Amino acid sequence: MAVRLFEGKDHASSYQKYRVSPSEELLSRVLTFLRRNTDSPCQLAVDVGCGSGQGTTLLALHFTQVVGTDISPAQLEQAVKHSSAPNISYRECPAEELPFEDASVDLVTVMSAFHWFDHSRFLQEADRILRPKGCLAILNYTVDIALSYGDCNEELKNICNEYHDILQSHRHAYIGPGSQALYEQTYNSLPYPVKEWEPCFWVRQQVPLSRYLGLMKSFSCYQLLLQKNPEEASRLSQNITQRLLSAMKVTSTETEVTMAVRYFYLLACKPSAE
Ligand SMILES: C[S@@+](CC[C@H](N)C(=O)[O-])C[C@H]1O[C@@H](n2cnc3c(N)ncnc32)[C@H](O)[C@@H]1O
Repeated sequence: MAVRLFEGKDHASSYQKYRVSPSEELLSRVLTFLRRNTDSPCQLAVDVGCGSGQGTTLLALHFTQVVGTDISPAQLEQAVKHSSAPNISYRECPAEELPFEDASVDLVTVMSAFHWFDHSRFLQEADRILRPKGCLAILNYTVDIALSYGDCNEELKNICNEYHDILQSHRHAYIGPGSQALYEQTYNSLPYPVKEWEPCFWVRQQVPLSRYLGLMKSFSCYQLLLQKNPEEASRLSQNITQRLLSAMKVTSTETEVTMAVRYFYLLACKPSAE
């Protein structure tokens, strides 16, 4: 089954504009795990469900070749438009049918997309294309993003929590009780002996408040509310914007805040054939 929620051109361009990517520190956790477990050179990385390519581009410095794959033509159009590294290319295909030969890939990454896949078919496919001692990195971040600014952090926290709770009530049924439980369960059942689970890894960055507001609107739960009831979605985001500005005692959404995003991830190494 594929859940096709990321097809609209407007949604894809807001993705490109607002979505976050893992920090250098988080990427270095993935690369350190890979280097510790493999002896082959970093030739090919495949970023599955790459969206508009924000995570894919980070891999370009570390691999001879990087391929981003996605099922959505609109997302891939954005990825190609904003791609600059000559060693990155993009392919349109489902995560469950990847166009790579058996045992040909050093690293398979999935950033904020695994929960939309047919999980067991994707895991079989990742296992097929990974070289022995190749690695799988499946990352995600939560909607409960925290903001800090001046001395009003507690107020911002309450407003953000309220926004988060309302949006969570509109999340797609395919995600079930939430993605973290799915990722942890996947980690526990993955039959690779060498693996790591990290339930909480904070990525902090200074951004204009508008970036947080745009990011929240790019989440599927906001997009689902927008489809069901555009007035309610717009009222909600305006209300949250006004309350955040008022708590911060500023008038511009270009005011810089610290945005903290909580990632969780699993890393796993495919056993060698011997
Ligand atoms: C939330 S976005 C994540 C995009 C990007 N990886 C990031 O880090 O922001 C999820 C992406 O997964 C893609 N997707 C969902 N189901 C898919 C499937 N079965 N096969 C391939 N891509 C899929 C969507 O089209 C979308 O671009």
